[in-house]
Order: sequence, then C-alpha cells, then structure tokens
Amino acid sequence: MSSTIKEALRRASFCLKQAGCVNPSGEAEVLLTASLGVTRAWLYAHGEEKPEAAELKHYFALVARRAAGEPYAYLAGEKEFMSLSFLVTPAVLIPRPETELLVEAAVRELKGRENLRILDVGTGSGAVAVSIAVLLPKSEVVAVDISPAALNVAMQNAARHNVTDRVRFLAGDLYAPVSRESFDAVVSNPPYISLTEIETLERDVKDYEPRLALNGGSDGLDFYRRLTAELAVLAVPPALLLFEVGCRQSEAVTELCSAAGYKNISLLNDLAGIPRIVLAKQTVTV
Ligand SMILES: C[S@@+](CC[C@H](N)C(=O)[O-])C[C@H]1O[C@@H](n2cnc3c(N)ncnc32)[C@H](O)[C@@H]1O
Repeated sequence: MSSTIKEALRRASFCLKQAGCVNPSGEAEVLLTASLGVTRAWLYAHGEEKPEAAELKHYFALVARRAAGEPYAYLAGEKEFMSLSFLVTPAVLIPRPETELLVEAAVRELKGRENLRILDVGTGSGAVAVSIAVLLPKSEVVAVDISPAALNVAMQNAARHNVTDRVRFLAGDLYAPVSRESFDAVVSNPPYISLTEIETLERDVKDYEPRLALNGGSDGLDFYRRLTAELAVLAVPPALLLFEVGCRQSEAVTELCSAAGYKNISLLNDLAGIPRIVLAKQTVTV
C-alpha cells in the first residue's frame, strides 16, 4: 500500500461516506491524526507525503471499524468536553455536549466559594468531575463509579488536566464509598435510558457504549430514586443537587427531589429546548 496523505484521506472519506457517516472528511482527518500522532495542521501541510505502509494499514483498519459503526471517539481515543480533551475508551460513556450544561450550572452556582466539596456520582470518563475541578480551583471533588475500568480512565483524565491532587476517585455503588461524608453539592449524570428504549438507540450507542452507563431500569428512573432516597447515608444532605435527565424525565425527577426535602427546584433546557438539568436547592432564596 502506497499513497500520499491526500489520497489516503480521499479514499477514507469516500469509504466513510458510503457507510453513512455524517462528517466523512472530518472523521477521516481526525482518524489519520490519531493514527500518525500528528495534528490536523500537520496533515494539511504535508498532503503530498507518503506515510509508511504499516501506518496506512493501521489507518485503514480504523476507518473500516468506523464504517462498521464503532464510535469515532473510541477510535480517535479522545473526546472534547468543556474545551478540554478527554481520553475515552470503550469502558466509559463518550461525554455528550448536553452534559456541559451540568458542569456550567455547577460552576455558576458554586463559583467564588472556598473549601467546596463536590461529589460526582457515576463519573465515567471523569469529564464532569475533572472539568469542575479545573473550573473551580478552590474545590475538592470526589468521583465515584461502580466500574473500576471507568475509574482508571477518569484518573488518567485527572492527570491529563493536572487536578489529581483535588479529585479523589472511589469505586463503589452510588453513595456507599462516601457514607458519613459531607458535600456542598452532588452532581450526577446517571444511567437513565429505560430498558425498552435501549434497544431503539442508534447502533453506535447500543452496540458499543457500556450498558452499565446506559441502563436506568424499567422506566429509566431507578438511579434518580436511589440518588434522592439514599441521601440519608451522607453526614448531612447537600445544599445543592444537580442531575442530568433524559427526555420526559424532568417532572418525575423534580418530584423525587421535592420528596427528599428540596424546596427550590428549577429546570435548565438544552439547545433543543428539552429540560435537561434538574437543579434542586434546599433553601428558597428570596
Ligand atoms: C451516563 S454515565 C455518565 C458518565 C459521565 N459522568 C459523563 O457524564 O459522561 C453513568 C456512569 O454511572 C456509572 N454507574 C452505573 N451504575 C452505578 C452505580 N450503582 N454506582 C456508581 N456508578 C454507577 C457507570 O459505570 C457510568 O460510568
């Protein structure tokens, strides 16, 4: 196999287009940057260069996996979130743009305060915990996940963004690893897809992303029930809860927060106008 960078990109884009990818040329470029360990700017400047045969073989193997439906972020090995680059592997959910709303809301609510303790339940890649630690430099974040493989990725992301000293990673079931501890805020993007809905998801989600990160039980609300009902295991109830929710779940989650004693509850919409974040405070502000 011998072709220039330009030719390789052209062939890969064609192949990805045939497979129905929405951005074939963009994906072809990023997969080549990942394969060669170079930047996009380097590719543009070296279009007439011929990569080694082994490099091209590796590249076209990635392109074939993408054409077969494997998520592009797993192949590239990273995903941008809050303008930071996160390592992602098939052990973690690929961070979604709507989850940035969760981080932005946490930062808006908590910025300027000192000695903050924030708990991220179901941290996955650590995208939420690490971004919050970066954006709130006076905070200490505890990140819990039941998956040791996910925590391993999250720890690498904390190191990547220099917040290892302020993010503590714990393996376990929801609040179990932090029982009797106290936090100013609990944030979570828990698994919230109902069992029946999982089967209707796009192939690249359903067949590749971890079920553990998706499965929210028969109606998708299992984790919100537990996240609100089990707050009693903490030393004191946190003043602020911030939960990402799926479509048509905001009302039920609002009721759960209200039943847990939270009086001031608001919803934040995503760009499509769907209520996406439930923000619950213990006290009513006047
Ligand atoms: C929807 S993913 C969110 C990942 C990440 N926070 C994000 O927003 O990209 C949910 C995460 O919850 C974790 N999880 C599932 N069951 C759990 C449990 N019982 N206790 C703690 N974490 C759990 C999964 O392993 C997964 O990483």
